[in-house]
Amino acid sequence: MILQEVVVRGEQAQDIPGIREVNRLAFGQAQESRIVDVLRDSCRDILSLVAVYQGHIVGHILFSPASISMKERTVTGMGLAPMAVLPEFQRKGVGTTLVRTGIFSLKARTCPFIIVLGQPQYYPRFGFKKASIYHIESEWNVPDEAFMILILDDIAMKGVQGTARYRPEFVEAV
Ligand SMILES: CC(C)(COP(=O)(O)OP(=O)(O)OC[C@H]1O[C@@H](n2cnc3c(N)ncnc32)[C@H](O)[C@@H]1OP(=O)(O)O)[C@@H](O)C(=O)NCCC(=O)NCCS
Repeated sequence: MILQEVVVRGEQAQDIPGIREVNRLAFGQAQESRIVDVLRDSCRDILSLVAVYQGHIVGHILFSPASISMKERTVTGMGLAPMAVLPEFQRKGVGTTLVRTGIFSLKARTCPFIIVLGQPQYYPRFGFKKASIYHIESEWNVPDEAFMILILDDIAMKGVQGTARYRPEFVEAV
């Protein structure tokens, strides 16, 4: 596979079966594709990107609204999850291209932050840091180094701390 031939673009209606398949094969189960389906139906503000190689969907990434509520205000950013690349296309840079395109697109939408729960070896290369250094924690009991945040707007995020929450569908759709 030649990475330069991989095109990353927004999801279209005809991509839905391919997105299901990529998630199912990458995770070895249907749970993640179910969450993607539920969020697509219930939430207008998702960003769903596909990686296409020679007309086939080989990767997918989803961002959905995530919020940090404090006494006086709630700040809404995005949560990255899930992300999936077909097993035979992994470790070739497709995931990196999906994450970078997503970050670029969300920055343009003036999204203040992106959270992710994932491999601490993978996401720091994109600028994600342990959320706890900003006094931001996950709603779930997860290892400290696995819950990360990328601050895209320092001004909007000044003084923001507390519990960051993904959409409830992540729990309800399981
Ligand atoms: C995680 C995933 C999306 C990464 O996509 P990818 O196209 O393989 O990633 P890239 O090729 O851009 O990046 C490869 C790099 O990520 C690292 N990497 C990939 N998957 C990793 C994992 N599960 N754990 C740790 N590191 C991982 C590799 O070591 C490699 O690092 P290197 O470039 O320094 O060698 C893909 O491996 C996948 O679909 N995994 C199964 C589903 C999953 O776990 N999704 C993430 C949780 S939502």
